[in-house]
Amino acid sequence: SSETYEHILISHPRPGVSLITLNRPKQLNALSSPLFSDLNSALSTLDSSPSTRCIVLTGSHKSFAAGADIKEMSTLTFAEAYGRDFIKSWSQQISNTTKPIIAAVNGYALGGGCELAMMCDIIYAGPNAQFGQPEIKLGTIPGAGGSQRLLRAVGKSRAMEIILTGKMVGAKEAGEWGLAARVFDTPEACVEGALDTAETVAGYGGLAVKAAKEVVNHAEEVGLSEGVKFERRVFHGLFGTKDQKVGMEAFVKKEKPEWTHE
Ligand code: HXC
Repeated sequence: SSETYEHILISHPRPGVSLITLNRPKQLNALSSPLFSDLNSALSTLDSSPSTRCIVLTGSHKSFAAGADIKEMSTLTFAEAYGRDFIKSWSQQISNTTKPIIAAVNGYALGGGCELAMMCDIIYAGPNAQFGQPEIKLGTIPGAGGSQRLLRAVGKSRAMEIILTGKMVGAKEAGEWGLAARVFDTPEACVEGALDTAETVAGYGGLAVKAAKEVVNHAEEVGLSEGVKFERRVFHGLFGTKDQKVGMEAFVKKEKPEWTHE
């Protein structure tokens, strides 16, 4: 592939699947501005590329991402942070990505790293995964949605404990609490498992996949009756697509569907 970045690696290991690997190993994938800029640009390119249907995001075996770059943030003033709405641009790019993103988390997912994982659509964890929001130890709080998404993922009491103490949560608990959808026996199995799932998703009609992600995400923003109504309207809309005809006709004829993504 022709895409080259300094702080991330891109590959296409399965049909329709792109793998983004955060690659600042010496800094444990601390999320610096240049890394964010690479990640944003890659996500925007992949989201509009017809050959990518699902994305896997991973780090190294030791660290998914150890947080926002503390060295960069240490001297930031209020005026600078507020003035350029620090952190908004990258969280917006990943939230605007319409194709599903699966986080394969090995090692540390701390602070902004945990927030990054939670911005993805599915989290898979390796055996040594460590999730946490240690900002309290730095005299600050989560700044990229951590308090909001962790609360929804694990409930108030656990979220409050994690955020107030800065303690890390291991893979087993993360799995039991539903923060991670699955926990794997080895770091390699975690990434392979994410690629397997991504390949499954990539094998479906792109419009239905996009609609599915959109309606689930919408649920976090609105009340139940609004959400159910929105889901129904999007569902109605899919009857206007070719893939719905392809998929249902194939079932009736006992054939394999040939998706056109139209
Ligand atoms: C900058 C970091 C870093 C970070 C690690 N490094 N995390 N640099 N920002 N978040 C650097 C270290 O300075 C060190 O650089 C190198 O990576 C290796 O780290 P060590 O500490 O030597 O490794 P280890 O002893 O194995 O400890 C691992 C660790 C620890 C427990 C993960 O590094 C750690 O506590 N890191 C900070 C975690 C954290 O507080 N994250 C939240 C950040 S705040 P040198 O040059 O010395 O080799 C945040 C706010 C988000 O994310 C708000 C919105 C995004």
